[in-house]
Amino acid sequence: MEGNIIPARPGEHNLADYGAARADFDFARVAEEFSWFESGRVNIVYEAVDRQVAELGRGDQAALYFEDGRRQEEYTFKQLQEQSARFAAVLQQYGLARGDRLGIFMPRSPELYISFLGAARRGVVVVPLFEAFMEEALRDRLGDSGAAAVVTTPELLPRIPVGDLPALKHIFVAGEDIPPGALDWRAVTAAAAPDTAMEWVDREHPLFILYASGADGKARGLVHVHEIMTGLLITARWVHDLRPGDVYWCTADPGWITGIAYGFLAPWLLGIPVVVRGGRFDAADWCATLAKYRVSVWYSAPTAFRMLMAGGDELLARYDLSRLRHILSVGEPLTEEVLNWSMQKLGQPVYDTWWMSETGMNMICNYRCLPVKPGSIGRPFPGITAVIVDDQGREMPAGKIGNLAIKDGWPSRFRSVWNDPERYARYFRHRPWFISGDAAYRDEDGYFYFQGRVDGVINTSGERVGPFEVEQKLAEHPAVARAGVAGKPDRLRGEIVKAFVVLAPGYAWSDELAAELRNFVKTGLAAHAAPREFEVKAEIPLTGDGRVDRRVLREWVLGLS
Ligand code: WTA
Repeated sequence: MEGNIIPARPGEHNLADYGAARADFDFARVAEEFSWFESGRVNIVYEAVDRQVAELGRGDQAALYFEDGRRQEEYTFKQLQEQSARFAAVLQQYGLARGDRLGIFMPRSPELYISFLGAARRGVVVVPLFEAFMEEALRDRLGDSGAAAVVTTPELLPRIPVGDLPALKHIFVAGEDIPPGALDWRAVTAAAAPDTAMEWVDREHPLFILYASGADGKARGLVHVHEIMTGLLITARWVHDLRPGDVYWCTADPGWITGIAYGFLAPWLLGIPVVVRGGRFDAADWCATLAKYRVSVWYSAPTAFRMLMAGGDELLARYDLSRLRHILSVGEPLTEEVLNWSMQKLGQPVYDTWWMSETGMNMICNYRCLPVKPGSIGRPFPGITAVIVDDQGREMPAGKIGNLAIKDGWPSRFRSVWNDPERYARYFRHRPWFISGDAAYRDEDGYFYFQGRVDGVINTSGERVGPFEVEQKLAEHPAVARAGVAGKPDRLRGEIVKAFVVLAPGYAWSDELAAELRNFVKTGLAAHAAPREFEVKAEIPLTGDGRVDRRVLREWVLGLS
C-alpha cells in the first residue's frame, strides 16, 4: 500500500524541525504576533489588511491579482482597505450592524473579496454561497442564517427566492444591468466615503457561517469566529511555507472553506499577494496563470492536478514554471499517480494536507522537513493532537482503522452550528475528541492514512455533497418514489454522485428520464450535486429507525452486494 518514501528536503524552510516545533508548541505564542495582543482590539480585517498598510509598510504592495478572461485587475493592500471601507460604510447606511448576516453569492470577482472584508470590518457576519447553488440550496442557507442582505450578480439574482426570505431586506448587485428593486453595488460603493473605522470585536465574534453538507438533514451552518486567524497565520507559515516575495495561488473557490481560509485570509495575514483566477477550469489557462504571475506557492486539489495531467506533457513544457517552489493539495486523496507526475514533471512532490470546513485550518499535513510517505495525509500540525478512536471514543493502536478524531481546543475550529446546538454537540459526543466523520489509521511513525468518509458524505472533485439533500430533491420528482444516494469511486473526480431510485407506479426507466432527473437536481440544488449515474432498484435499504442505510448503499456502489 505504501509506495517509495520521498525524502525530506532540507533547506531554508519556515518549519525546519517538526519534532522540536511539536515539543514546545503553544498557540498562545502565535497570538502574540497579532497587534491585538498588545492593543486588545480585535478584527481579522485589521490584521490582514489595515495593519499591512498602517504598520508594516505594505500599502502599495499588490494584495490581489484578479483575472477571469474578461477582467484583469490588481489591488494593493491600500486599495483593498479603501474599497472595503467604502462597502463597510454602505452596509452601515443600509442598517446592517454587528452580528447581522450578509450573504455573498457570486462568482469569483474583486467585489466578492471586497464585500467579505467590508462586512467583517463592521462585525457583520458573512454567509458565503457557492455560485453553483440553485434555488433550493439558497432558500435553505439564506433562510437558516436569516441574512438581512445579499451581494450577487445580475446573472445569479434570479436564483434567489426573495419572496421566501422575509429577513432579506437589501440586494446588492454588482454588474451591468441592475434590476429594479436591487441596489447597484458599484454605484453605492463608489458614492460612499470610506469609513476606515474598524468595528472592534471579541475574538469569539462570528466572522462567517459556512454551510457544509453532512450525511443527514440539510447543510449545517458552521460558525467561524475572528480567532480563526491564529491557526491561519501559523499554518500559512509552516505548512504553506509563505515568506516575503512569494506569490500565492490557492485555486479553491471562496464558496468553500479552502477558498476563504487560504484563498485570501491566511496569505494576507502574512502580507503575501494572492492570485485569483475566475472562470472555468482550463488546463492551458492554469499553466499560463502560474507562469504569468510567477506563482511560487500553489495550493490545489487532486482533481485539478489530474486534469492538468490529462492536458499532456507538451502543455507544461510550454510555460516557465521555474518560480514554483512549493505545491500543496487538499480535499481528496492525493493518488500516487499525481505524486509521480509532479516529481517527474514539476521536479518536486505535492504536499498533501488534510482538514475540514469544521476545523478551519490545516490539521494533518506533509511538511518539507519530513519525508513524504505516498498515500499518507501526513502528521498532525504542531499543537494538534490527532488520534484514531473506536465507536465508543476509545483510542485505537497504530494500524487499526477507526474514526479520525482531533483533541478539542485549537483556535481555528468552528464554534457552533447555527440554530442547531444538537448537531454541534454530536461532533463532540466523545469529549475531548472532535469526531471528524473520516475513517483513517495511523502508522508506527505517526503518519495518518485517510480511508474515506464514515458517514456517506460524498466528495466529488473535492466538493462536499450531502446525500440526504440529493435524495430529498430526487424524491420531489413525480417519477421517483424513493432515492438513495452514495459516492462511487471515480478515477478523475475521486467520487461521483450515484443515485439508486425506486420508480413511482406508472413510470418506466429511460435515458430521457435519467437526463431529466439529473437536470432536476442540477437546476434545483446545484450542478455538482447532480447524479452522474443512476440505477433503478426495487427498494432502498433502511436502518431500524427508518433512515437510508448508507452501509448497504456503499456496498452497492462498490459492487459488493
Ligand atoms: C476530505 C475541505 C483525502 C475529507 C478542506 C474531509 C480529504 C472532507 C483531504 C472535508 C485529503 C479533506 N485527503 N480527503 N488530504 N482533505 N478531505 O469540509 O473527507 O469541504 O472530511 O473541507 O474532505 O471537506 P470540506
